[in-house]
Amino acid sequence: MTTCGCAHHTPPEVFENVTLVANDRVAEGVGLVTFDAPRIARDVQPGQFVHVRIAYGVDYLLRRPFSVYRTHGDRLEILYQVVGRGTRDLALATPGTEMDMVGPLGCGWRVAEDTAHALLVSGGLGAAPLGMLAEELAVRGIAVTVAMGAPCGERLVGRDLFERVARRVEIATDDGSCGTAGFVTGVCGEMIVEGGYDVVYTCGPEPMQRIVAAQAADAGVACQVSLERLMACGIGVCLSCVVETKCGFRRACVDGPVFYAKEIVWGSVYDGSCEL
Ligand SMILES: Cc1cc2nc3c(=O)[nH]c(=O)nc-3n(C[C@H](O)[C@H](O)[C@H](O)COP(=O)(O)OP(=O)(O)OC[C@H]3O[C@@H](n4cnc5c(N)ncnc54)[C@H](O)[C@@H]3O)c2cc1C
Ligand code: FES
Repeated sequence: MTTCGCAHHTPPEVFENVTLVANDRVAEGVGLVTFDAPRIARDVQPGQFVHVRIAYGVDYLLRRPFSVYRTHGDRLEILYQVVGRGTRDLALATPGTEMDMVGPLGCGWRVAEDTAHALLVSGGLGAAPLGMLAEELAVRGIAVTVAMGAPCGERLVGRDLFERVARRVEIATDDGSCGTAGFVTGVCGEMIVEGGYDVVYTCGPEPMQRIVAAQAADAGVACQVSLERLMACGIGVCLSCVVETKCGFRRACVDGPVFYAKEIVWGSVYDGSCEL
């Protein structure tokens, strides 16, 4: 029987006025912003996200959703890729800037009690929701192996964190400038066939996640995926973020963004192959 949706209880989200304490470029087009956000940092679970009002005005009627990459004490870190107005303004924000944030939101990664070894597969900024998970698994004594991919070496994100906590990190770049030349799915496909993993956690472009999910299913390994959707309210009201699952439509903002891969009706998912 397939059961869908968020299985575990998470504390209710809060509104918090947060202060930006650092904002650094970490890769081509990617920044890492650190906020002083004691209430949200205390409660957030790996794989959950926050909704940030980057500024005020007509461009900011909607908050922007970001995965929480890491927390340490009262601090919360977000990795962001500059794609539009909001993330451009985020890149320009300096220490001392105040923003308001809602979180923690959504349903994060599930870790089964008997997990001994997890494979994390990250594509590009897919590292964002996997960083905190990698640290949490290591703290719990669960072996972590990572396969990470990017278009080129300059766009690898999260490598330092993964190399610090994982027993093995395999890298693939499309142009071969770092690690194996080609897509990360080639590398992780071989690793999954080698065996030894209880679970695969993956985030990255949806076509990549779909392939990883199929590789895990073929090998009989459990797999969880973190899906990105356009989001407006972030709290389950507007239905802008639906995902088709075997149990019907689910809202990525409250029932996800992490789902069991076996739940997803992949055929219904936009795979970037045509104009919408
Ligand atoms: C649960 C969740 C977690 C996310 N985590 C991260 C993260 O950790 N780091 C990060 O950089 N980004 C993350 N995103 C995507 C991020 O929210 C968008 O890139 C951001 O809102 C764009 O804002 P903008 O004002 O710069 O761009 P806009 O001007 O609003 O849009 C620029 C382009 O980005 C596209 N876009 C906007 N919002 C989204 C979205 N939600 N999903 C996909 N495409 C979008 C638009 O269609 C447009 O093509 C996440 C999204 C979700 C739903
Ligand atoms: S963003 Fe409104 S229901 Fe998910």
